[in-house]
Amino acid sequence: MGQIFKAQILTPKNQKTVLFYDPGYLVVSDEGKIEFVGTKNPRQKYKNYRFHDHSDLIICPGFIDTHNHLPQYAFAGIGDFSLLPWLKKYTFPRETQFKSEKTARPAANNFFTSLLKNGTTTTLTYVTTHFSATNIAFEEAKKAKIRAIIGKVMMDSFSPSALQEKTEKSLQDSLELIEKWHGHDRRLFYALTPRFALTCSSKLLEKIATLAKEKDVYIQTHLSENLEELKLVKKRFPKAKSYTDVYYRAGLLTPKTILAHCIHLSNPELTLIKKAGASISHCPSSNRFLMSGQMPARKYLTASTQLSLGTDVAGGYSLSMFNEMREALETSKSYINPLKPEEVFYMATLGGAKALSMHKITGSLEPGKEADFLIIDPLKFTPDPNTKYQNPTQILSQMIYRGSEFAIKNVFIAGKKLN
Ligand code: GUN
Ligand code: ZN
Repeated sequence: MGQIFKAQILTPKNQKTVLFYDPGYLVVSDEGKIEFVGTKNPRQKYKNYRFHDHSDLIICPGFIDTHNHLPQYAFAGIGDFSLLPWLKKYTFPRETQFKSEKTARPAANNFFTSLLKNGTTTTLTYVTTHFSATNIAFEEAKKAKIRAIIGKVMMDSFSPSALQEKTEKSLQDSLELIEKWHGHDRRLFYALTPRFALTCSSKLLEKIATLAKEKDVYIQTHLSENLEELKLVKKRFPKAKSYTDVYYRAGLLTPKTILAHCIHLSNPELTLIKKAGASISHCPSSNRFLMSGQMPARKYLTASTQLSLGTDVAGGYSLSMFNEMREALETSKSYINPLKPEEVFYMATLGGAKALSMHKITGSLEPGKEADFLIIDPLKFTPDPNTKYQNPTQILSQMIYRGSEFAIKNVFIAGKKLN
């Protein structure tokens, strides 16, 4: 049966504008597609639909987290180091444990459940170099009914021996996972996942590019996160003009490539990314937690680079996209012309969908799209219930700065309530 939801509705129109319907109506078909959004009362037209009066609640699109690491969630919030020692001390030992299903399955189950609790309805996720752990991650994402693009990490050089792969095996395993999962239920997709230049040979990077093209799958990797990492990349790839050029030469920059961090890019690097139509996953809380530096978001937006937001758990300490939006706003204040609430909301929703080429199906509340949305209780973040703000920017700002998983009452994907 179709459904009608009455609520305060917030949805991005574009990078700069948020639409606000109050009271607004969201009409969802039996198949889980949005039929109508707006202020005109649709109850006459959709007589047989079930009506939900949520006049005191907010409805907004589900969030899209374009960068995180499933196996790292267990140690989120722990880490007293910058990137390279942190990988060695916390990340690689934890990822090694994913050889065992006894670790991999409950961790995957907890991870996707936690993403949904935090209002994330679409995620782009790294697992480990293990075939079985990645297969399990897909199985658990399927059970959770989340939209997910998932990839087995690929590393064939300078990695801990327990995690390092042979080049051909890394490609074969990835291919098998692509055949099994890419496009499954129209909800699960595959991302080839070279971890970063420092743990991949040029041969592996080139072969990944060929495979991505052949199978039309996503590519996700890290780029220009930490200054020590940059120095090592320069040494390891002396022919490349820049870190970005390492990926460009290999053919890894495509419209379906998502590059995490991108803090220390030169202008020519930015141009390479933009021309290829690749996008950047901005991870401000991780950038602060691991002391990696600050990504100049405004500069990148002015250069028309495609930006979305990633929690980068466990470089980031939280799966909350409220937290990530807040961090993006706060860290942008070190620059002239800081970001605005509308801009970070866009990055967490429709901008994320664009980065993942999913903007025709999700990321905003528009007729024809899948009904992926959140019901949010503003009383959970309003400081004084006697004083309500009516201006959409103010409501959005208060939701971003004071929102958390506890304000999320329900999560819907394709019109089905998941919790
Ligand atoms: N660079 C290579 N691997 C990682 C990782 O797991 N996390 C972060 N933040 N950066 C990386
Ligand atoms: Zn990362």
